[in-house]
Amino acid sequence: MVHARIAGIGSYVPEKILANADLEQMVDTNDEWIVQRTGIRERRIAAEHEFTSDLCVRAALDLMERYRIRLDDVDHIIACTNTPDYPFPSAASQIGSKLGIPAAGAVDVNATCAGFVHGIQLASALISSGMYRKILVFGSDTMSKITDYTDRSTCILFGDGAGVILLEAGGEQELLLAHSSHSDGTGGIHVYRSGLSGSMDGKELQGNGCIVQNGREVYRWAVTEVPKAMARLAAAAGLNLAEIDRFVPHSANLRIIESICEKSGFPLERTLYSLVRYGNTSAASIPLSLDLAVKENRLTEGQTVLLYGFGAGLVQAGALLRWSLPEARSEA
Ligand code: UT7
Repeated sequence: MVHARIAGIGSYVPEKILANADLEQMVDTNDEWIVQRTGIRERRIAAEHEFTSDLCVRAALDLMERYRIRLDDVDHIIACTNTPDYPFPSAASQIGSKLGIPAAGAVDVNATCAGFVHGIQLASALISSGMYRKILVFGSDTMSKITDYTDRSTCILFGDGAGVILLEAGGEQELLLAHSSHSDGTGGIHVYRSGLSGSMDGKELQGNGCIVQNGREVYRWAVTEVPKAMARLAAAAGLNLAEIDRFVPHSANLRIIESICEKSGFPLERTLYSLVRYGNTSAASIPLSLDLAVKENRLTEGQTVLLYGFGAGLVQAGALLRWSLPEARSEA
């Protein structure tokens, strides 16, 4: 049986910082409210000419540089994003050509903030089945391109970034100890990007092509659903939650994460998040959290790591894996 293993990780965030103090000049808000309600202090904003595939390419170059890995023999690219450069062609195909690996299959996965976890599930299964041997899984979004900077209830949350993990055949054991996914389209109305359709389930959609969100509903749903799912995933792997070393939830809001930890009994100190400096980066949030932890030596060989994505859909996906990563050959 072929198993997938993690061969490298990389990440990139744009240079421009949008701090809470900057938002105070744009909408009726203040640093204290934002920090107390969300934990977010700043986010990164892509330049006008910088799109999701560009961020992904920078993340892949970071991975190549740190792990001294060639990517020209990658045979599949999965780009998890809800903000591709264009509706089509896919971000994945753009990434492939910009990296000089046009021979690889290329597909985008849109499962919003749960996208990266779906990407890891798919890539792991595609490698285990023998279909592909070397897959780049990107989680990336340029949320600033679809954020209404006159809407204080959403513009304080979102930021841009990209993370990537390279999975390849050759693992000694199954990468995923347990997995799960779930969707409930009846909750689609609670967070959406307005666009072509004027209504959903008979309810009129608001907006101007940007994110529209009923924050309280999404908050309530997340803190109810995620603790239950964590317990189910641990049980499916024959573990107690206490035996899990790291929890990596989607970095939506620190209060959501604290509430999930309190309800599930999982210690906040063993939880990884990227929102303080990067905000809610949607599909990028989990790989950014992982890479921050790698750089801080908070992820080590053999640890059990529970990834959990949740977001617009409403969708959720979990992956419990045993962490293993080659030593980087150059400084991050
Ligand atoms: O990744 C996609 C999934 N999305 C999420 O996970 C988002 C989940 N939801 C949240 O993170 C939170 O609901 C928010 C951060 C969006 C909002 O926090 P909240 O504690 O739920 O605030 P709220 O919406 O209940 O609003 C409380 C008050 C309201 O004023 P009144 O009606 O009590 O007078 C808002 O108008 O805070 C006001 N408010 C603000 N005040 C200052 C809303 N946004 C702001 C703001 N600055 N930026």
